[in-house]
Amino acid sequence: MAESEAAAGAALAPATSSREERSSPGAGDARILFVGDVVGGIGRHTLLDCLPILRERYAPTFVVVNGENAAGGLGITPKIADQMFAAGVDAITLGNHAYHRREIYPYLETQKPIVRPANYLRSQPGRGVCVVERGGVRLGVVSLSGNLYLRAGRSAFTEIEVALNEIGDVEHILVDMHAEATSEKVAMGWHLDGRVTAVVGTHTHVPTADARVLPGGTAYITDVGMTGPRGGVIGVKREQAIASLLTQMPVRFETSEEDPWLMSVLISCSQRLRADSIEQVLMPRPADTSRDR
Ligand code: FE2
Repeated sequence: MAESEAAAGAALAPATSSREERSSPGAGDARILFVGDVVGGIGRHTLLDCLPILRERYAPTFVVVNGENAAGGLGITPKIADQMFAAGVDAITLGNHAYHRREIYPYLETQKPIVRPANYLRSQPGRGVCVVERGGVRLGVVSLSGNLYLRAGRSAFTEIEVALNEIGDVEHILVDMHAEATSEKVAMGWHLDGRVTAVVGTHTHVPTADARVLPGGTAYITDVGMTGPRGGVIGVKREQAIASLLTQMPVRFETSEEDPWLMSVLISCSQRLRADSIEQVLMPRPADTSRDR
């Protein structure tokens, strides 16, 4: 499908409600832009500067952003989440830093499309799934945390079934598998192949070279990367990270501002719960911006 057709579809498709309309040919047409972990103010401004360019270039139906490092590199605040929604972000996913900022707790209990890992304890604030709709196409978004080297109260592999049941009948489902271990992410991709539109990995901040559509039709990548400073060490000023490793002593970490990039994937779909393609979209922050940091 030509890009212009996708753009027109996203803009003009009426809000359908009947199952018949949703299952008609073309009901699965969508483009999902998923943006990797936004790190600090530099990451937020890179996102805001790049989004209009990406919208014009790819006409995404949905924009989903991992925002768990958006507030000074750790956590997210209501103000930052609102800023992202105002910029046209459809849903925000989180991860192991979801609760770093206390002021986000009540916000996570609202109906805003912001999700923390579904396999956290039920007693923890927030929810693990949400559904957003654009032009009659519904996208279910699931946040999951890996269980290796990260603190998650329940298994990602059992709780995903509960999450998928909760989402119910939608055209597309995107799962953000926020995990340290590549093995868990690869396994989740295979586990969900043919049942969801995409499984995208986050958390390591380094994009991997394995983006592909699995045989059952699920788009997969082990890590999307981060939206933040490539000149640091996964977001931290590199001299501080190196000093910590050299001295083995506590070092105060600050977010690097050097060489900011947006790292994302674009998933194109023409059938329900299936991806036609997944491509990495990696771009430096535009040089001519005058936005305050
Ligand atoms: Fe993380």
